[in-house]
Amino acid sequence: MPRLVIQPGIFEGDVPPTKTILQVLLEQRAPMHFSCRRGLCGQDLIRILSGWEFLNPIGDLEDGTLELLRAKGKKMRMACCARIVGEGEVTVEIVR
Ligand code: FES
Repeated sequence: MPRLVIQPGIFEGDVPPTKTILQVLLEQRAPMHFSCRRGLCGQDLIRILSGWEFLNPIGDLEDGTLELLRAKGKKMRMACCARIVGEGEVTVEIVR
């Protein structure tokens, strides 16, 4: 099963590909802002420290938001849109 690490020390464990990183953050009661859960509001930006290649592709809504936030192409995702779909480990940290 895909493995997720949320730094610093927030979570480390297996995560099914159906679960978004935002869902894991909320389950861990991490200090995370969120609203739309669709990639639009830009509140749940995370930085991918490793394992980018194991994440699902970026959709149009998320892509537009990343561009507005000047986060596009900088290994960042909206946590509500990011899921681990490959058989590997992904390490992330909260940006905002
Ligand atoms: S909750 Fe709005 S972009 Fe993720």
